[in-house]
Amino acid sequence: MRKKWLIFIVLLLAVPYVRAQGHQGETSFDWGWLFARYGWQADGTRIPEPVSPEQYAFDDSGWRKLDLPHDWGIEGPFRPDLEGFTGKLPWKGIGWYRKHFRIPAKDKGKQYYLDFDGAMANAEVWLNGEKVGDRPYGYISFRVDLTPHIRWGEENVVAVRLNTEKLGSRWYPGAGIYRHVRLVVTDPVHVAQWGVFVTTPHITDEEGKVSVNVKIQNDGPVETECSYTVDIYELNTDDVRGKKVAVSPSRKLVLPSDVSGSDSVLLKVAFPKRWSLEHTNRYMASVKVFRNKKKVDVYEVPFGFRTIQFTHDNGFLLNGKRVQINGTCNHHDLGALGAAVNEAALKRQLMILKSFGCNALRTSHNPPAPELLTLADKLGFLVMDEAFDCWGVGKKEYDYGALFPKWHERDIESLVCRDRNHPSVILWSTGNEVEEQYHPESGMARHLTEVVHRFDNTRPVTFGASYPSKSAMNGTELQVDVHGMNYAAGVYGGPYFYGEFLNKEGHEYLSGYSSESSSTMSSRGEYFPRRFHVSSYDLNEPGWGGLPDQEFAALDRYPGICGEFVWTGFDYLGEPTPYNSDNSVLLNHVAALSEEEMEQQKKALEDIEKNRPTSRSSYFGIVDLAGFPKDRYYLYQSRWLPQLPMVHILPHWNFPDKEGEVIPVFVYTSGDEAELFLNGKSLGKKKKQAYEYRLRWEDVIYQPGELKAVAYKHGQKWAETEVRTTGRAVKLKLTPDKTSIKADGDDLVFVKVSFLDEKGDEVPVAENLVSCTLNGAGRIVATDNGDPTCLIPFSSPVRPAFNGLLLAVVKAERGHKGMLHFVAEAEGLEKAELDIQIETGYRKKR
Ligand code: GAL
Repeated sequence: MRKKWLIFIVLLLAVPYVRAQGHQGETSFDWGWLFARYGWQADGTRIPEPVSPEQYAFDDSGWRKLDLPHDWGIEGPFRPDLEGFTGKLPWKGIGWYRKHFRIPAKDKGKQYYLDFDGAMANAEVWLNGEKVGDRPYGYISFRVDLTPHIRWGEENVVAVRLNTEKLGSRWYPGAGIYRHVRLVVTDPVHVAQWGVFVTTPHITDEEGKVSVNVKIQNDGPVETECSYTVDIYELNTDDVRGKKVAVSPSRKLVLPSDVSGSDSVLLKVAFPKRWSLEHTNRYMASVKVFRNKKKVDVYEVPFGFRTIQFTHDNGFLLNGKRVQINGTCNHHDLGALGAAVNEAALKRQLMILKSFGCNALRTSHNPPAPELLTLADKLGFLVMDEAFDCWGVGKKEYDYGALFPKWHERDIESLVCRDRNHPSVILWSTGNEVEEQYHPESGMARHLTEVVHRFDNTRPVTFGASYPSKSAMNGTELQVDVHGMNYAAGVYGGPYFYGEFLNKEGHEYLSGYSSESSSTMSSRGEYFPRRFHVSSYDLNEPGWGGLPDQEFAALDRYPGICGEFVWTGFDYLGEPTPYNSDNSVLLNHVAALSEEEMEQQKKALEDIEKNRPTSRSSYFGIVDLAGFPKDRYYLYQSRWLPQLPMVHILPHWNFPDKEGEVIPVFVYTSGDEAELFLNGKSLGKKKKQAYEYRLRWEDVIYQPGELKAVAYKHGQKWAETEVRTTGRAVKLKLTPDKTSIKADGDDLVFVKVSFLDEKGDEVPVAENLVSCTLNGAGRIVATDNGDPTCLIPFSSPVRPAFNGLLLAVVKAERGHKGMLHFVAEAEGLEKAELDIQIETGYRKKR
């Protein structure tokens, strides 16, 4: 037995494993916390906070045990009385977390830090009753130093208080320590937090120059001489270190007590493999710090060789080649899992985005979880990394507007220093639709651009301007490096504007892109929408938005523009426009609305108030909240993956009560023409005209049977598809995203449940109630069906399907082995079963 363990440990140590940047030997601090909720409770009652829960001796024996990441808001239940922007989830409250842990006496003299990737919100942290830090912005990563208040050789207690009662948000923010926490134990002389900055100032096919700036901190009591070296390794996509490709000479630093010092070293890598969207080659800089000839710290940073350039008239260039930005904006929630970060869920989202050709992400409107950027590096996405939704002028009470004066410089520093080594990050965004854009004289945009450049001058700075027609030529656009335009298709698409803009004096070098586009709304699979739904014909947009086709046309007319970030890739919790009872959207654009438009907005809001929609998540997604593609997915796929032979028909063909009635049929294809057949009879061939992106047969008379589309490209057959009227559902079908799971406490399997008729065709309208069960050492953590109006808690294993689909999310208990057996049942239907193998060997990653 002993021997087995030894082999296991040796194997673990032998794999040179790097997850993200950080100190070798950092450990996860996610497990074994205690939690209690005070202030507002889920049911709307209040529980007062007890006296001093931060104290060492506070009695927390009745608190709930849990592991991080944790989001208390997603636990629900949904509250119909809450406003739409909240996601109708009761996230407002005061959360306390405590964790008891021992620190060995032999570590006295070392530094102990806790690194929080993010805590929502207004975090205050204590160790053994002593305050060690606070950080109000819930999306920012921060560190606290535990060292001065440690009880060496004894039990220690860390306590965290979070307050979301004083948090204003236009969407569902989540609540709790919703990202990872790590314990960092170092020598007093160590690499400072985010203290390694790798740049690649010169790249040719033969040689890549790598400049590594290292900041070392001396927390010891005396002046110390130390040295450091940098080695560069190849890094594969599984984060395993490969060949060593460069070694630096040793460099010396003398650091007085309590001071940090920086130094740079230049290395050369022969024949560097460039990072691109297709080939995500990465390298790793490993910095070793020595004191008295002893190695005291190792800090590792993945990075990539690539060049980026935003041009005035030829869009965005990656490694010198034009890449059209086919991006999506996304909020940070993971649907039914809420804001609690989960790598498997993030990866699933990115793979879905990739499958329709999305190649860029805007982290609207806040700093993302670090895992998102590592995944973007590995999977090949460009990232616009965004800091804030507002500057000094807030959009809601208690939002970032209140924090801005005191915190914005520090928050920008943390964001940029944390994320500046990721090859995927191509743009820093300081904000979204900020009121200050209308006041160029304030110089605020310039100030923020300068703050970012203090910490990284290798990437341009931008922000998303609303109503660019009003602010794009007032001078604000010259205070950033690249001009972001929200909902501007009508503006730059119109010949009167963009030409004028491009040619304006001072704009000779300015590059532009659509920082937010479309905002088309739909409910998946709804064509003749029920109450509080929006049709899936992809023809509905809010007043400020547009249809995908309009943006495509504008971009085709002005290829100098770098591309777009569509609002949004996924549906998200909160902001259920057009059934949003929140008025922040109105306030958001107040400077640009006419009196008449303002009246219309107010009237729309009054109607919503009267009708009390149950809508709790958005309709904007190309993909629904559960991760199922809407029709729009295929429209984007047809444009963004032009080489993929594909054709898609909408709607489905199950309308028993519409026989003889007109039903429009749309076809999305990467071909240039298509012929439509109903029950074998041609309904004609249609060809895309200039600036036309979908083919429409507006007056098809419905009769049950088969609708088939044959697409052509350059006159050759390109792709074919059909939709059939189905019978009623007789059995269930399960499609998991994978068939094995790691028992590491994080990994998830996503199981799609669909319905088959007698012939084995999927029934697109089935809405049967499905019960999911799981046998074995695991549990069903959530279910969802993509219906934005459904108020059944996400934790329920019983849920009706929505337009033919349901999702169940499965997790294995940490450290367990064996098989999980998943069963889905619906009354009167043949059940479906699935085995999921638990992978042996697990490890909490850094
Ligand atoms: C934009 C805003 C986004 C979102 C979107 C909805 O104006 O920047 O955050 O609210 O509207 O269409």
